[in-house]
Amino acid sequence: LNKALELEHGAAIQYLSHAEIINGLNAEPIISRLKEIAGDELKHAQMFRDMIGALGGTPSLGVAKTYPGRNVKQILEQNLKNEMEAVDAYKGILEALKKENLKYEDVRLEHEVRHVIIDEMEHIEELRILLALI
Ligand SMILES: [Fe+2]
Ligand SMILES: [Fe+2]
Repeated sequence: LNKALELEHGAAIQYLSHAEIINGLNAEPIISRLKEIAGDELKHAQMFRDMIGALGGTPSLGVAKTYPGRNVKQILEQNLKNEMEAVDAYKGILEALKKENLKYEDVRLEHEVRHVIIDEMEHIEELRILLALI
């Protein structure tokens, strides 16, 4: 779960950084969308932090590897790739939860992780739409 938390930390700051370097014609809708997605990632980070605490762990202060933005196309492609990697990582959490005798926290975690996966899939869809429009 700390790896997931670090992915969310990285995603949030990466989106916020990328939002600052996009400029030019038609930049505004892309900038606001990247900032909105960053807000979702911060909420995901908080969820993982809560769950780690509820399970008796210590939430990581670490940040997953981030990639600098260069131009709009590269930014959208990089984040699309990272979103797909996040979905894979979170599916791995669901896989690990497929066991008998789930505790209350396990069921809660499973529910929360499904929500996060749905959000990430929305992000993937939005990034694909933006990529198709540029
Ligand atoms: Fe996220
Ligand atoms: Fe995302």
